[in-house]
Amino acid sequence: MVKITFSIFIIIPKIGLSFAADFLGMNSSISHGETLVSSDQTFELGFFTLGNFNMSYLGIWYKFSPDTVVWVANRNNPLADHKGVLTFNNAGNLVILNRLNGVVWSSKSSRILQNPIAQLLDSGNLVLWDDFVLSSDETYSWQSFDYPSDTLLAGMKLLLNPKTGLERCLTAWKSMDDPSPGDYVHRLNYNQGLPQFETVQLNVHRKTFRTGQWNGVQFVGIPNLSSPAGVPLFVQSETEISFMFEVHDKQLFSRIKLNSLGVLQLLVNRSRTATLNVKLEFPSDPCDFYGRCGANAICRCSLCECVKGFMPKSPDKWAVGDFSSGCHRTIPTNCSKGEGFWKIEVVKLPDLLEVTLDRRMNLKECKDVCSKNCSCVAYANSDVRGGGSGCLMWFGDLIDMKALEGWNRVQSLYVRLSASELGLEITKEDIDLPLYDLATIKSATSNFSIGNMIRLGGFGAVYKGNLSTGQLVAVKRLSKSSMQGLEEFKNEVLLIAQLQHRNLVGLLGCCIEGEERILLYEYMENKSLNYLIFDQEKSLLLTWQRRFDIIIGIARGLLYLHQDSKLQVIHRDLKASNILLDGDLNPKISDFGLARIFGANEKEGRTKRVIGTYGYMSPEYAMDGKFSLKSDIYSFGVLLLEIVSGKRNRGFSHPSHHHNLLSHAWLLWSDGRALEMMDECLHSSFDRTQVERCIQVGLLCVQKFPEDRPAISSTIYMILNSGLVLPKPKEPGFFIERNSKYSDGASSKSDSHTQNLVTLTMLEGR
Ligand SMILES: *[C@@H]1O[C@H](CO)[C@@H](O)[C@H](O)[C@H]1NC(C)=O
Ligand SMILES: *[C@@H]1O[C@H](CO)[C@@H](O)[C@H](O)[C@H]1NC(C)=O
Repeated sequence: MVKITFSIFIIIPKIGLSFAADFLGMNSSISHGETLVSSDQTFELGFFTLGNFNMSYLGIWYKFSPDTVVWVANRNNPLADHKGVLTFNNAGNLVILNRLNGVVWSSKSSRILQNPIAQLLDSGNLVLWDDFVLSSDETYSWQSFDYPSDTLLAGMKLLLNPKTGLERCLTAWKSMDDPSPGDYVHRLNYNQGLPQFETVQLNVHRKTFRTGQWNGVQFVGIPNLSSPAGVPLFVQSETEISFMFEVHDKQLFSRIKLNSLGVLQLLVNRSRTATLNVKLEFPSDPCDFYGRCGANAICRCSLCECVKGFMPKSPDKWAVGDFSSGCHRTIPTNCSKGEGFWKIEVVKLPDLLEVTLDRRMNLKECKDVCSKNCSCVAYANSDVRGGGSGCLMWFGDLIDMKALEGWNRVQSLYVRLSASELGLEITKEDIDLPLYDLATIKSATSNFSIGNMIRLGGFGAVYKGNLSTGQLVAVKRLSKSSMQGLEEFKNEVLLIAQLQHRNLVGLLGCCIEGEERILLYEYMENKSLNYLIFDQEKSLLLTWQRRFDIIIGIARGLLYLHQDSKLQVIHRDLKASNILLDGDLNPKISDFGLARIFGANEKEGRTKRVIGTYGYMSPEYAMDGKFSLKSDIYSFGVLLLEIVSGKRNRGFSHPSHHHNLLSHAWLLWSDGRALEMMDECLHSSFDRTQVERCIQVGLLCVQKFPEDRPAISSTIYMILNSGLVLPKPKEPGFFIERNSKYSDGASSKSDSHTQNLVTLTMLEGR
């Protein structure tokens, strides 16, 4: 982050004759060392000198902080000596005269003034008016606010006149000690009638930052700026689009500045002290840099994710963190049947490059028009007010998207996807899933005997089965409650059968007879992860390397479910007992897709039926029934921390506090002692940086707000790339210290063991 200081400015002390006055009349002048001071003593105008060449300029600065120059008159024509004079010419214009150079600068008054007066107002505006024709509606014949340098003061406008092309923008200084116009400008862009601010690097014709378009309430890509330090005002009419801000607290001296490195800053001085406070800077996080992720990708926590339905153009570069090549479609779209739109929420909308805008349409009409025009790749509301209105459609690559935090009131983006990407249409011809009859299953499981039962979960019981061929299978007998109809069940099973990945338990067959719904899976010799990691003796088997491999394996399985498979599957019950281990301790996710069978196959949304397990459920899911890919990420984070610590989240207890495992981990991490949470039995085998990285990634996954949690692809990337600087996790969801006395009793380990085995199926959660 770029912090600026003005310490290298060499300001010649303003000797002696300080004008107490705030104005300059007809026959007077100001020379070096003399100044005008605004009546409330905030601003001062005079000559100042800086730089190696001792150039001198006429400027305005804060009287309490003379280094803070907010306006410069002769940026392009500095004086090489200290002999400059500010006075009036015959036409009544302000001029800077110099014995060597003559007139080096002049105000451009709209008419000839008979008795001109120049006055420095309390706002920092230097204005020129005619005492001769002073009347109540007299406007200034010239004002410095119409000619911004690099600083926007309260009451000053940045504007654009779409009719005449008149533009007022900020132009950075060339360097910290050279006020001449530099390479960066910050200006209003008005493509398609939607204003947005952009910082442009002129010498290379490149945008470096944009605020995102105005949506009626705010610029979509930056936080809502309203604060005591500045209330933004946005005016849009046929002849003027303008932006300014007001400050209502007289003790705050705010300004917006484009510094010489192209960073836009909101700066505040408090109560007439030179102590500077940098409130905001753009760009400040890597995702603010224009187009960082290339085309069709979203920047989140410094990393890039392809939009669903797109993949990296150069996967090799992408894998090593070079995202500039962007993403292209996995399956081309061509207006064929079944195409639809994928909703992306809380995102800085793409740049307005190839777009159309129709303010009269609503979202539904927008969708209809976009879906009929094959070159329309995405659409969104243009205005958020009154529930949303207007239709913005994009026709080219989607550039410069950023995942935002939940505070922003911004519109969702809908991106066109092919039918198969949306998971609506899947060909079933090639699947041959063996159908077993009930008699075969009964004999394989000794008639579902208790002795053959492996475990009991919310979706039903699992038995060990020995087929007549000698093959061992796991037999899942689905519970009868709230089952779908037969056809739907078959369809879902066929869909699930298509999900094949080395980190998912393979589905071998099924059995449908009468009321019975049975699924046959490959048998896993080492049962499930919870039998190993939470057991004092068996956990010794799991060295750090093995645990690390298990973590990566689970993540790969999840990546497949979330992103790489034809269906997008949210697991919704990821937990240690659903991670099965084969003979070589390879992890395989089980029970995936069952949430679909159990009648809740919405892609994301709200459900009244909360399926899941306490301890692994994200706050938004447990409390509001809101599920999404990010609720799976939360569960994955819990699992990760459990694998590292060897302790259950639910039922975790600590002698000195009543936090759960997540909060405990977060407190240790914040204290720089994350390693202390590691399972003691790992001390002989661990890799410090890997363990620490896993803990931090785990904490990123369990953050309270879903939009803060990384996608699974970024999660894997962060775990595997030791060179990467990880973001700081915010506090985890459910960061509450339980009252021991009233806790649910789950803090005793023996108790929680049984509780944790039972998957919760809660009807009508709230
Ligand atoms: C300025 O000087 C001129 C010429 O000396 C004189 O005529 C005029 O009255 C003066 N104006 C003021 C405002 O003093
Ligand atoms: C799709 O929209 C673009 C932009 O408005 C337009 O130029 C093009 O003619 C449209 N195509 C069709 C087939 O309507």
